[in-house]
Amino acid sequence: MTQRKGIILAGGSGTRLYPLTMAVSKQLMPIYDKPMIFYPLSIVMLAGVREVAIITTPEDQAQFRRLLGDGSQWGMSFEYIEQPSPDGLAQAYLLAEDFLDGAPSVMVLGDNIFFGHDLPKMLRSADERADGGTVFGYHVAEPQHYGVVGFDANGQANQIIEKPSEPPSNFAVTGLYFLDGDAPRRAKEIKPSARGELEITSLLETYLGEGTLSVETMGRGFAWLDTGTHGSLLDAGNFVRTLSLRQGMLVGSPEEIAFDNGWIDEVQLRERAELFGKTDYGAYLQRLLVR
Ligand code: TTP
Repeated sequence: MTQRKGIILAGGSGTRLYPLTMAVSKQLMPIYDKPMIFYPLSIVMLAGVREVAIITTPEDQAQFRRLLGDGSQWGMSFEYIEQPSPDGLAQAYLLAEDFLDGAPSVMVLGDNIFFGHDLPKMLRSADERADGGTVFGYHVAEPQHYGVVGFDANGQANQIIEKPSEPPSNFAVTGLYFLDGDAPRRAKEIKPSARGELEITSLLETYLGEGTLSVETMGRGFAWLDTGTHGSLLDAGNFVRTLSLRQGMLVGSPEEIAFDNGWIDEVQLRERAELFGKTDYGAYLQRLLVR
């Protein structure tokens, strides 16, 4: 199988976080000790993917470049793509078509945070499925705000409905999509929805209809956090802080994952640790060196 490539979709308007996001992208907001985009980036890295396109608004791109560079500090390579206006999640596959060049992809929304036991294993097994796609269902209290999965009598996913007023289940589709190399072609064929967006749900339906979409459920031991409102942004930060302090481990550190994956060596890790020298983050990276 061609090596899978990554997409982090970090455009959008972030209006629910105004005035915070009037001058700075939502995906650069702090989640405790890191900018938000580090968390979805970590997910792509845990899936074993090193080549990543970062899609942002034209105005915000310079700041993302300043933060993330070309990816070589983590043994990765980044390409930046502009999304002129937030015309829907499925548009990412059109914008990234040349970058993907026929490769299968893993796309994560830039504001999605995942945490849970055996998450790397789950990601690796989704990566191994060469044809069709894999998405993840997560039980939420208020499914009507999301794309919601419907299941048949055998527990097989048979529909995904965008923001339904009467949800068929409590399982929302999370912002993490493993799709095969055919996704850009399919994205060209879907029509914008009533709200004028190219919906990811419409793209997923094309796979579901053919029986090639696997919907894995993330159990209650997983955390899939929202960061789109003032309250949920603060809650996500507190969640990461609580875990980090209690365990003495970082959540969502690209340095740690790059080192574990063998993408950077001790010299490169030390450089990063020294860069963050005065922080707990830097101290933790120093400890990895003597582990
Ligand atoms: P949303 O939270 O649906 O939208 P938003 O970020 O624009 O925020 P708000 O509703 O407050 O105005 O977006 C989910 C994620 O997807 C977020 O990380 C932004 C990203 N996104 C894009 O990059 N491009 C798009 O066209 C859309 C719709 C979302």
